[in-house]
Amino acid sequence: MDLFEHQAKEIFAEYGVPVPAGKIATTPEEARAIADAFAAAGTSRVVVKAQVKAGGRGKAGGVKVADSPADAEDKARQILGMDIKGHTVHKVLVEEASAIAEEYYFSFLLDRANRTFLSICSVEGGMEIEEVAATKPDAVAQVPVVALTGIDRARAREIAAAGRLPEQALDGAAELIERLWAVFVDEDATLVEVNPLILTQDGRVMALDGKVTLDGNADFRQAEHEALEDKASTDPLEAKAKEKGLNYVKLDGSVGIIGNGAGLVMSTLDVVAYAGEQYGGQKPANFLDIGGGASAEVMANGMEVVLGDSDVKSVFINVFGGITSGDAVANGIVQAVKLLGERGETVDRPIVVRLDGNNAEEGRRILNEAAIPVIEQVETMDEAARRAAELASQGV
Ligand SMILES: Nc1ncnc2c1ncn2[C@@H]1O[C@H](COP(=O)(O)OP(=O)(O)OP(=O)(O)O)[C@@H](O)[C@H]1O
Ligand SMILES: [Mg+2]
Repeated sequence: MDLFEHQAKEIFAEYGVPVPAGKIATTPEEARAIADAFAAAGTSRVVVKAQVKAGGRGKAGGVKVADSPADAEDKARQILGMDIKGHTVHKVLVEEASAIAEEYYFSFLLDRANRTFLSICSVEGGMEIEEVAATKPDAVAQVPVVALTGIDRARAREIAAAGRLPEQALDGAAELIERLWAVFVDEDATLVEVNPLILTQDGRVMALDGKVTLDGNADFRQAEHEALEDKASTDPLEAKAKEKGLNYVKLDGSVGIIGNGAGLVMSTLDVVAYAGEQYGGQKPANFLDIGGGASAEVMANGMEVVLGDSDVKSVFINVFGGITSGDAVANGIVQAVKLLGERGETVDRPIVVRLDGNNAEEGRRILNEAAIPVIEQVETMDEAARRAAELASQGV
């Protein structure tokens, strides 16, 4: 899960990482009130910053300096509602303007390719690090971090020095980097990025921006992370699936997919996309892995979520019996259709079922016997994918 800048900064502050004081506004009037309070405390210059989970906000006009509370209201009015790379701005961060002497770059991230953690530090900050790495590779230090030993103050200072930060910024940067490492580890993050990390005119080092990605696999031990979720912009079907404990991702096609096992579902997406080319470009509408040992209830929940998507014109249930045998899956599908009926959700779109593996024959027999009008069985995966794509192309 990616966090908004203001959430990242709130976490930074908890760990003692210096950040500018700021508050969130959802209306221009609120922005003015926040700027008023800063002005009363002696800070009249503020920065109004769009809170969207996309990079390049500054370039898009989403970060603006305001010289007075009236100006802050004005700037907030310009920024709220703006579209930045497909994200509508619903809130702005109003924070005190810092007197910047220099802008640097710093991040910790998970380096999957090398199976380690990585720190990146550069004296050239503020702009996109990819660009700096391409034009001035010498100015970007990439220092691997050994998970077992981590980062202490001395190591942090070495990284800052490798990034060519000037002598007067090294102590402040080292302290900040050590604390960011605590954020990275204790919060189970896969990315903690500060761009720019600044040296102020009076010699302090601060985080002026913050990008944090939390590892969802650690949610079980990070109970407080749930509160950071942006419920308003989560896809409603994905939210419903999550509530039901389903592994579901919404895609933009028309063929609903249900399978058991992530690998099988991934290849199902491929064969459907391939088969769909013959039928006007029909594509998978979702990823849904109901896992091994799927009960009728899980199947019903899965079908409910998939059919809840009005883009879905046909459904392809692709199950390979392993631990769960084919007859159990077939019974699951039959009961799921019943369960859905009882929930008032009529199954009104065609469903293609391909059952294979452990006890598949018995499963096919059960489905044939149930004779559910919307269900048809196809023996092979490729043919089933073709049929599902064909049905989707005929759907309304
Ligand atoms: N509190 C602040 N005080 C003074 N200047 C600021 C402040 N916040 C941001 N700026 C200036 O605005 C620039 C852009 O801000 P920021 O890094 O937060 O957004 P961005 O880089 O455009 O967005 P993103 O990181 O999403 O690409 C900074 O490099 C800095 O020069
Ligand atoms: Mg930035």
